[in-house]
Amino acid sequence: MASHLIVLAAGQGSRMQSDLPKVLHPLGGAPLFAHALASGAALEPQTRVLVVGHGGDAVRAAAADIDPDIVIAQQVEQLGTAHAVGCARAALADATGTAFVLYGDTPFVRPETLERMAAARAEGHAVVVSGFTPADPGRYGRLVMRDGALERIVEYKDASDDERAITLCNGGIMAVDAALIFDLIDGIGNDNAAGEYYLTDIVQVARDRGHSATVVEFDESETLGINTRAELARAEAIFQARARADALDNGVTMTAPDTVFFSHDTHVGRDAVIEPNVIFAAGVTVESGATIRAFSHLEGCHVGARAVVGPYARLRRGAELSNDTRIGNFVEIKNAQIGDGAKVNHLSYVGDATVGAAANLGAGTVTCNYDGVFKHHTDIGARAFIGSSTMLVAPVRVGADAMTASGSVITADVPDGALALGRARQVNKPGLAARMIDRLRALKANKKEDV
Ligand code: UD1
Ligand code: CA
Repeated sequence: MASHLIVLAAGQGSRMQSDLPKVLHPLGGAPLFAHALASGAALEPQTRVLVVGHGGDAVRAAAADIDPDIVIAQQVEQLGTAHAVGCARAALADATGTAFVLYGDTPFVRPETLERMAAARAEGHAVVVSGFTPADPGRYGRLVMRDGALERIVEYKDASDDERAITLCNGGIMAVDAALIFDLIDGIGNDNAAGEYYLTDIVQVARDRGHSATVVEFDESETLGINTRAELARAEAIFQARARADALDNGVTMTAPDTVFFSHDTHVGRDAVIEPNVIFAAGVTVESGATIRAFSHLEGCHVGARAVVGPYARLRRGAELSNDTRIGNFVEIKNAQIGDGAKVNHLSYVGDATVGAAANLGAGTVTCNYDGVFKHHTDIGARAFIGSSTMLVAPVRVGADAMTASGSVITADVPDGALALGRARQVNKPGLAARMIDRLRALKANKKEDV
């Protein structure tokens, strides 16, 4: 059966106290709404519709970055969850199968739960609602059951005392027959305590029209919605705890997992070792057997097998470390390919560069890649030896097996196998240091007498 996703993300999120729309706040390095889309990805949906409202243009741009095929539906006025789903009508005009409704501010829905809902749809239920029994039912909608079937959902605001005593609550996610959903929504009014079009009324409307509805129960932890910065911080902690547990399960060694921070898309291979206080921003892949030493920060990069990075290393976007490379302390790598077994061990900046296999960059090597307007490329050949404190003024090429003398400023290409010296010749003045010190001390003594 075909699946379609409708992710509701039009709410203002005023309790975030933010100029940024709520669903753009990051969780695990990805905007909130992307997590709901990722949960739904397991269903291999034919259509993904994101309903935007507040900050719609910014959300639209972020969505296009993640997946250009996402359809954006605009909900100009937030008249309720049923009205929000109705905004997806044009995008799902002739759809059949199942339309799943998810919330953009509810990131922890497990794909297994959606699959169980799909299974309930396959059994012939027109409407499948997610239910859960929270520790504190609070203001959640209540699921009214009769003879084991779901009869209707009543919102807390509209519920009688007896209905408020029901502990089975609406988790918010729904799976509805895609061919029926918009007809059912057309049957929903807004004559209720909030004056809103409640999606929850879809159950009653479906039942009245002779369709069946049922509940799939899931765990409260999956319903966690984010309304405040405090909840966002708590969600981040949950996200990180899960990511750490997954990494450990997948054979990653971490001596202090609580100090390691992952992103939604971090991949770390088996037998990799992650030392304490390492941060993985978005877009990082670490191959098997690599070691990321303490206090390193990685983003948008690839670390090859058995490479050793850090301590105190910074890998930025486009850093591609091949196997067995060594990136040491206080080294920054950006948009650069580092060949097999190459070493950049100390205090260096390598940006917009290609470094050949087994090359060795001495302490304080800098690729001077930026002229104030343009970025330029540096090419370092295989087995080249770059002397300490070499400035490589790009665009420039150092050949294979070539060397640069330490302290050189390299402004012209160095042929293969050549040694480049780009520094002033040293001159020694015998006795001059001692004479200078004597003179300076005498000057200081005279000054004191003046005072
Ligand atoms: C909703 C359910 C409630 C359930 C709870 C679970 C309804 C009427 N109630 O209540 O039964 O227990 O979720 O968390 O559905 N949104 C829009 N446009 C709108 C209104 C809402 O896009 O016009 C979006 C919000 O941004 C949010 C989601 O829909 O992501 C849910 O809306 P919210 O107002 O938070 O619903 P609840 O009151 O929590
Ligand atoms: Ca809510």
